[in-house]
Amino acid sequence: MRRGLFLLLLSSVFIFSIQAQIQWKQVESGVWKGVVGIPEEYSLLQVSGVSPLKEGFSRLPEVELPVLATEIEGNVRDSKTYLSIPLQRNEQLYGFGLNFQTVQQRGKVLNLHVDHYKGQDNGRTHAPVPFYISSLGYGILINSARYLTVYAGSGSRKDSPEASVAKDRNTDPTWTASPYSDAVSILVPAPGTEIYLFAGPTSMDVVRRYNLFCGGGVLPPRWGLGFTQRTHTMYTAEQVEKEADEFASHGYPLDFIGLEPGWQSKAYPCSFEWDKGRYPNPKEFVGKMLDKGIRLNLWTNPYISPESGIYEAMYPVSCSHTVWCGIVPDLATKEARKLWQDKLKLEHIGIGVSGYKIDEIDGYDRWLWPDVATFPSKVPAEMMRQTYGLWVQRTTAELYKERNQRTYGLIRASNAGASSFPYVLYNDYYNHRDYITALINSGFSGVLWTPEVRHSKSAEEWLRRFQTAAFSPMAMINAWADSTKPWSFPEVAPQIKEYALLRMQMMPYWYTEFARYHFDGIPPFRGMNLESGFNLQAVSKTELHDKDLKDNPYLETVTKEIKDQYMAGEYLLVAPLFTGEKTRTVILPQGNWYDFYTGDYVGNGEVITVTPGLERIPVYVKDGGIIPMMPPLLHAPKAGQIVDLEIRHYGKANGTYRLYDDDGETFDYEKGDYSWRDIKVERQKNGKLKGSISKAQKGKPNSIGKITWKFMTK
Ligand code: GAL
Repeated sequence: MRRGLFLLLLSSVFIFSIQAQIQWKQVESGVWKGVVGIPEEYSLLQVSGVSPLKEGFSRLPEVELPVLATEIEGNVRDSKTYLSIPLQRNEQLYGFGLNFQTVQQRGKVLNLHVDHYKGQDNGRTHAPVPFYISSLGYGILINSARYLTVYAGSGSRKDSPEASVAKDRNTDPTWTASPYSDAVSILVPAPGTEIYLFAGPTSMDVVRRYNLFCGGGVLPPRWGLGFTQRTHTMYTAEQVEKEADEFASHGYPLDFIGLEPGWQSKAYPCSFEWDKGRYPNPKEFVGKMLDKGIRLNLWTNPYISPESGIYEAMYPVSCSHTVWCGIVPDLATKEARKLWQDKLKLEHIGIGVSGYKIDEIDGYDRWLWPDVATFPSKVPAEMMRQTYGLWVQRTTAELYKERNQRTYGLIRASNAGASSFPYVLYNDYYNHRDYITALINSGFSGVLWTPEVRHSKSAEEWLRRFQTAAFSPMAMINAWADSTKPWSFPEVAPQIKEYALLRMQMMPYWYTEFARYHFDGIPPFRGMNLESGFNLQAVSKTELHDKDLKDNPYLETVTKEIKDQYMAGEYLLVAPLFTGEKTRTVILPQGNWYDFYTGDYVGNGEVITVTPGLERIPVYVKDGGIIPMMPPLLHAPKAGQIVDLEIRHYGKANGTYRLYDDDGETFDYEKGDYSWRDIKVERQKNGKLKGSISKAQKGKPNSIGKITWKFMTK
């Protein structure tokens, strides 16, 4: 009895006040794991179930454990874990998931919580990934599925060597409500956590290591990078077929159609079964669509209607609470996953459905299961909320993997560990400008984001939105509510068509850039500050002064957020215009830059003002940039289809590009069935540029037909 009491006391001392130097263990090249307290077994990485893409690390520089590691503190008190990661004055922070309005996160207080985005960057978002990147070239991941509170450089310790001096607000105009803070503090409401440290040296290297650690970025099927239209929710099979035919007769590309809730016999909660009135013969319908070269993507949410054939079997492995009176499968149990998978296979995948849009797994609090709910797996409701997006992605992705067939779909919630999942995030919030900021932030968090196009108030808005969708991970019109078509605004229909076709022409580039995401962890769409030549030395927002603002934020001190222009692949800088704008400024990094459409020189390391006209989204190419393009086909090339290439070169400098090729549809690339072809453009003795491309390796995929070269800069 006494001994028991002693042990109890000892363990409570242990739990309530662990304070130890974190021991770091190298887990991959440039990645270290630290353990504080006793981490919970159920974690983000455990749920994602991915393993590192080891081979990719070999192309990153070898690095030592950053000195910072020894300065990171972790304490367990009161059954909670308190982490402190030091900050330097000139440091800026990026990441913490899918934020919509801000790129720089230093100074923020965030409650990382899966939720529908409600217009404020406070941590509640569709993918509140607890991973951040420092401008000083390291990254931190907290592998906890709890709701985390992050003080991203707010809060000032009295013993900080850098502590600010108290000021008199009565008399001192430099008084600030947020004096200097020298650390990121994170509160994990659990008696332990794993913490991962990712080394650089550059911020891009950090992101790459993170993505590779999470399995490498997703490589979508080629068709996933084509164009997609989501039809009106109440459309019938006949109307969907007609819509596909209209795309063809109007000459607009189309690779997959998304069916919205009306395809199901019951929705909100869902039956996962076809509505026999609107879709009397699903197998025949899916087959006919495939014959037209169009794949189908099905909307669903995971909540099961009492009328669904799997309701009864799922009931024992579902949550204590319902969502819209539907049961919530406990996807942490094998039984629930299998029941769901079997249903999807039987009803959809087995008859040729190519993917899913999985909705409503993020929140609203009052819709979803509450945090007091229980699950048969005993996973706390809070942790289920943080990981449900990971579960649905993993569970559905597995179904395609086992068929050796790639998929590409849509998802409303995600978290850490998701880089390799074939899903793109979307939401109902419809702020065009913020959609671009989200696109930038997705690149810091190992997730993809689509600035989808829905309704628009004007032709101008329609075209401006469409232009950005064409330069994003998924080029989509989501007409579920209003059945808009790309040609719905006749005054801009030709321009819309031009961008839809440009999306297709650029497929060899997009596909290669996604291959780089997969094999090298480089996000295809990303913020400017991951660019080399971007020597960012940010200062805390709280200490900003207008006088610090320089013309060119790529110079030493950057105090301004850049959240309305982004990099698309290796060579392109995209600078969208928003409704009402005729002109905008674009910040060009160091080096010569050229206009994508004309090849003309536009500037070097400077801020330019452009007035592109409604028909153009400004896009710029780095000196020596090479963009491989194909003819404007209406569907993505099929496996083995030979396609001609137009290889464009921009600027004066020699250029190189590694063009990726594989069958575009299966996972055979994981077994080495792919090729990289080296493209080179070099200036000859006669002063002219000349292009060359390496031969396809024997026995490796080769889908390249005739090649023409286009030297864009005269
Ligand atoms: C929303 C979703 C929309 C559409 C709609 C259908 O939750 O964001 O894109 O799918 O449901 O009811």
